[in-house]
Parts: sequence; C-alpha cells; structure tokens
Amino acid sequence: MALSEEWEYEMPELTGRVALVTGATSGIGKAIAARLAADGAFVIVSGRDPDRGHAVVEAIASAGGQAEFIKADLADAESAIALAGEALAVKGHVDVLVNNAGIAVYGSTPEGTQYDFDALYAVNVKAPYFLVGQIVPSMIERGSGVVVNVSTMVASFGSSSTGIYGSSKAALNQLTRDWAVEFGPSGVRVNTVAPGPTRTEGTERVLGPLLDKIAAKSPLGRPATTAEVAAVVAFLAGDDAAMVHGQLIHVDGGRSVL
Ligand SMILES: NC(=O)c1ccc[n+]([C@@H]2O[C@H](COP(=O)([O-])OP(=O)(O)OC[C@H]3O[C@@H](n4cnc5c(N)ncnc54)[C@H](OP(=O)(O)O)[C@@H]3O)[C@@H](O)[C@H]2O)c1
Repeated sequence: MALSEEWEYEMPELTGRVALVTGATSGIGKAIAARLAADGAFVIVSGRDPDRGHAVVEAIASAGGQAEFIKADLADAESAIALAGEALAVKGHVDVLVNNAGIAVYGSTPEGTQYDFDALYAVNVKAPYFLVGQIVPSMIERGSGVVVNVSTMVASFGSSSTGIYGSSKAALNQLTRDWAVEFGPSGVRVNTVAPGPTRTEGTERVLGPLLDKIAAKSPLGRPATTAEVAAVVAFLAGDDAAMVHGQLIHVDGGRSVL
C-alpha cells in the first residue's frame, strides 16, 4: 500500500477470532497465548495448573487482551474431547487451535519405560488428534480455521537419546500433512512449527545449562526465546499465511539443515 494521507493502520490481525492454546500455562505456550492476544484474539488458555493458568489470563488482561482459562489434563482422548467441548462453548467457535502442550523424555531405548512411552504419546499425539477431530468440524462448518501444531527439531534428524520424544513429534508432523490434505479443501489450514532449543520453564527443569550446549550446535548458536517461536505461530495463525499449508516450519537457528 502506498504511503499517503490515505494510509491507515489496520485492526490487529486476529481481532474477533478465538484461539485455543494447549499448554499455555508455561513456556512457549504462554508466549503464544500472549502474542495471539496482543494480535487481537480472544485466547483460551489451557493447561493442568490453574494457578499458572489464571496468572497468564491476568497478565493478558492487564496488557489489554482477552483470555479465559480452562483446566485440562490431556492424558487421554476423553480429556481432549472434554476440552474441545468446553472451548467451543466459550464463544460458540474456535478459529485457531494451537496444539502446543507437550512433554519430553530423554534416554536410550533400553532405558525407555512403558509409562513414559504411553504418557508422551498421549499428550504429544493422541490429544492433538482428538482435539482436531472435535474442533475442526466446526471450522469446516464456518468455512475457515487454522491449526498450528508445535513439534520439535529432533523429529527431523536422528539422535541417540530422543527416540520416544522425536518419534511422537514425527507422528504429529505426519498428521499435519494428512490434515492438510483432509481439511484444506474445506478452508482449514494446518501447519507445524518445529522449535529448536528454547529457554522455558520446562527446559530449565529438564536440561538446565545443557540447553545452551545443544543450541551452540546450530548455525545461529543460541537458544530461541519463547517470543521468537510465538511470532512464527502468530504468522501461521493469521491471514498473511493464507497460502502456507501442510508445512513444517523450523524455528531452530538452522540446526535442522546441518
Ligand atoms: N523448549 C524447547 O526447547 C522446545 C523445543 C522443541 C519443541 N518444544 C515443544 O514446545 C512445546 C512447549 O514446550 P515448553 O518448553 O514450553 O514446555 P513447558 O515449559 O514444560 O510447558 C509445557 C506445557 O504443556 C502443558 N502440559 C504438559 N503435560 C500436560 C498434560 N498432560 N495435559 C495438559 N497440558 C500439559 C503444561 O501444562 P501445566 O504446566 O499446566 O501442567 C505446560 O503448559 C512442547 O510441545 C515441546 O515439545 C519445546
């Protein structure tokens, strides 16, 4: 648009839209919730911890945004289906679904336990699958909607200690391609963001100083901030990304091209 006296600021990109962000009580999900709210969306913040969930809602409100918390432990299909129903009831529709909630374990395959395997696949694969299954039909009815999945760089190359985690996120990457084919003709866009090492409450707890060492292996040589990941999710959620569909977008400082 030419710069002239007719130039006008537009409304924030996501004004009037409703976004559900899973795992929004911490780390990357919290930053995504804050960014989508700053971009005008009404954000449904979900997670297990009500104290941290309400704190995120209050922080968004004090910055002038709108949000509401829904507690959900995405340990099985039933909880995902229940969350979808509660989220759809808030405003009658969900325009943007961000499947961010996720857990990681690290270790060799002989050390892997059934408990970890089942817990990771439940949160990282089963919950997004059933959330999409419940929420996308209402997007199809309205003729539009966006799903953004949060994966990881370690789903795109081999590693000696991330078998359960990387394979669960690789399943999410494949579901992204499947959903792009299944739902694209109905106006629903689906993409995945694959972060590299990102400083969050979760990585502080699990990796500590190892995070910087892992990040140092990437061409950019440092961890991402949560805001840097959230910015890419916000782009994919908005209309500027109208022709971006079925893609895996790496936000890893170039690590995955090595
Ligand atoms: N940080 C990184 O370096 C990195 C890199 C690549 C990919 N990722 C991906 O990015 C996403 C967020 O990671 P993060 O580092 O921000 O993690 P985090 O700080 O540990 O936060 C994880 C979020 O997921 C939620 N969550 C975990 N288990 C859940 C369950 N059973 N039911 C419902 N919610 C659950 C947590 O909710 P509560 O706290 O309320 O329980 C929390 O809000 C994950 O999918 C992760 O795999 C992270």
